Amino acid sequence: MIEEMDFENRIVSPEYSYNDNDNEITLRPKTLNEYIGQDKVKSSLATYIKAARLRNESLDHCLLYGPPGLGKTTLASIIAKEMGVNLRVTSGPAIEKQGDLVAILTSLNEGDVLFIDEIHRLSRNIEEILYPAMEDFSLDIIIGKGPSARSIRLDVPHFTLVGATTRSGQLTAPLRDRFGVLLRLEMYTPEQLAEIVMRSSTILNIETDMDGALEIASRSRGTPRIANRLLRRVRDIAQVDFNGKITENVAQAALSRFDIDELGLDDFDRKMLNVIITNYGGGPVGLETLAAAVGDEAITIEDVYEPYLMQIGFLARTPRGRCVTPLAYEHLGLKPNSSSQQSLL
Ligand code: ADE
Repeated sequence: MIEEMDFENRIVSPEYSYNDNDNEITLRPKTLNEYIGQDKVKSSLATYIKAARLRNESLDHCLLYGPPGLGKTTLASIIAKEMGVNLRVTSGPAIEKQGDLVAILTSLNEGDVLFIDEIHRLSRNIEEILYPAMEDFSLDIIIGKGPSARSIRLDVPHFTLVGATTRSGQLTAPLRDRFGVLLRLEMYTPEQLAEIVMRSSTILNIETDMDGALEIASRSRGTPRIANRLLRRVRDIAQVDFNGKITENVAQAALSRFDIDELGLDDFDRKMLNVIITNYGGGPVGLETLAAAVGDEAITIEDVYEPYLMQIGFLARTPRGRCVTPLAYEHLGLKPNSSSQQSLL
């Protein structure tokens, strides 16, 4: 068991934290042109937006999926801005009753974008309200109870639903089928993240050179939210202990003080990999067993921590469980155990 680790406050967690609020509002790009990376998604969206505008129609419903922190909310606000309409933001868990969704849908203006984050967490009875709304822009509402209950059909304005999820596999088929556009967000390369760090530095008036930006970028786990968070923390140290400018040396010194290594791994990652190695011979170990051993929830491990470890080739998901790869052993300065590694081959 890992003792006393503060999961909520991991600097390198890609999940939104209250402290990111300022960052996300000030640094969020407002147009597709300002948005760095995700080239495939951007070019598809640019085409669909242009076509919808030419026809004077609302944009098709879009589903954005991929790991947290990659800019799904940002893209929804860009879609609304580029379409010249309002954005309404809500989330799957926030919509508790059918009436909540009816109230939102009936208050939209023609063409508006409705963004539902974590859309896989909508309950089934609320999804049922969404189907006719997405398909025919109408609502079937039951009024009254018992024998006198009757159903009435209400029209809602033509709107665009932008749904976001970290787990597209958990969406029900009828909901997924009603999205005309499916867009998968990828993790960013260090070069793209360095460009984001340079852009953010300009906005926040921080002097950062390209090597300093790359150093922050390569420790940001493919995630702009983490890059912007690290930039602010490094700036504090640059101002207090150095001359204020973020260079490669300054970024290295600052980030190692937070125990974030060259690949962006923190104590939690290293301990999780070590638990698999020492307790389970490098794997395979089942997700639930691993979650109990590290003291965190399986879903958090799966959605939040594992994507980056898999992306850099440190962890493999196999049918029999999680396995640490030889690359990870090397990074931790350990020798792979040959018998357990057989399972990877
Ligand atoms: N800030 C956060 N994500 C960004 C992105 N993709 N492009 C530019 N700035 C960003």
